[in-house]
Amino acid sequence: MSTLIRGGTVVDAETSCRADLLVVDGRIAAIAEGLEAPSGAAVVDAGDRLVIPGGIDPHTHMQLPFMGTVASDDFYTGTAAGLAGGTTSIVDFVIPNPQQSLMEAYTTWRGWAEKAAADYGFHVAITWWDESVHADMGTLAREHGVASFKHFMAYKNAIMCDDEALVSSFTRCIELGALPTVHAENGELVFRLQKQLVAQGITGPEGHPLSRPPAVEGEAANRAIRIAEVLGTPLYVVHVSAEQALEAIARARGEGQRVFGEVLAGHLLVDDSVYRNLDFTFAAGHVMSPPFRPRHHQDALWAGLQAGHLHTTATDHCCFCAPQKAAGRDNFTLIPNGCAGIEDRMSLLWHYGVGSGRLTPSEFVRVTSTNAAQIFGMYPRKGAIRIGADADLVLWDPVATRTISASTHHQNVDFNIFEGRTVSGVATHSFTRGLLAWADGDLRAVRGHGQYLKRATGGAYIEASAKRRG
Ligand code: URP
Ligand code: ZN
Ligand code: ZN
Repeated sequence: MSTLIRGGTVVDAETSCRADLLVVDGRIAAIAEGLEAPSGAAVVDAGDRLVIPGGIDPHTHMQLPFMGTVASDDFYTGTAAGLAGGTTSIVDFVIPNPQQSLMEAYTTWRGWAEKAAADYGFHVAITWWDESVHADMGTLAREHGVASFKHFMAYKNAIMCDDEALVSSFTRCIELGALPTVHAENGELVFRLQKQLVAQGITGPEGHPLSRPPAVEGEAANRAIRIAEVLGTPLYVVHVSAEQALEAIARARGEGQRVFGEVLAGHLLVDDSVYRNLDFTFAAGHVMSPPFRPRHHQDALWAGLQAGHLHTTATDHCCFCAPQKAAGRDNFTLIPNGCAGIEDRMSLLWHYGVGSGRLTPSEFVRVTSTNAAQIFGMYPRKGAIRIGADADLVLWDPVATRTISASTHHQNVDFNIFEGRTVSGVATHSFTRGLLAWADGDLRAVRGHGQYLKRATGGAYIEASAKRRG
């Protein structure tokens, strides 16, 4: 099965040039001007469009069981929506319950993900510690291609990882050549602030950001970074939302420490005024952690992305519909935390990033796919346009516009935090390993087409850190 993509401008993380692409059996077989279509090949005319590596969303939660409910986008609907927006791979999270075997949880998530329409990998969360966790991390990293482990420093009495487990796990990551990642919020402080606010009668969604102020994130980010410094491991901080956390990353990087930062499209664009909206459904629809921040944080995050202190863009795609969010109508601490975004990230980053001159087209590619592929052990199979790479390709119309709305999106959720924004920059075609799954508004995602991504441990960044440790 082959496809010739003719006449586009190929943009990768370094450069752009006019070229045709030949795709054979799901991989890129040739890149050159004036390629001939082999007999039987499908031909897609790229016209004036760009050809970019498919987006990689390194932070999603499909069908996550969380806060008494289950995220409404499953691995099929969520990855299909991603394809409609130009995202062709995800890295999702296996989150064992405390005391649950990591292998058991991993097997469960692998089963759920079999229906995915696009490729997927897993970070595995460390929610508790004993010798079995130590052993299972080894099995996951060495035999199953789990190259990163996640640590929730928040969600006390649920999935929070205390400092003892954090230190044990970071140490184990070093042994395995795996990358530790953290959700940086001080769970003790959040817990206390939540209790205080509810006791004061602040029970609506406006209490959510008050219970998770920027300092709570800054403290946890700095703590994780300093623990990583002492142990000598690189570190990846997910969903950086606050200037304080960004400053901790920038400071550490300035001191020579290898710390990576991820920013969500939502944190770049939405501010905390949404929580003061008197419509509960609207305000609760924005409840996620960390919360959206006052506007000056967004300026700092954009600058952090431009400066190279933040490396990846993600969505933390974790959908809950209005009836699910209503569980917290009388108590904001019970509103399931999470928002959608996988379908819109690429367009938003193009429109507000490239469109404003903050990012070049190649920088856009870097922060939407290449960096994630390199950091998480998927490069150059993913995140690159080169011979032999997976044909995860997107035809990108840089000037076409679309208006984002829950009434037209493909995500299985009744709310969109970007509702009504008209953005320029649209994925007109998405190929997942050569399969054309999105073509001019026609979603042809195939249930079960997605494959599990075994990722490489011990990549260049990990090796460099090992050298520094001596
Ligand atoms: O609110 C969020 N972000 N929900 C998903 C879980 C997490 O913290 O990443
Ligand atoms: Zn998180
Ligand atoms: Zn998350």
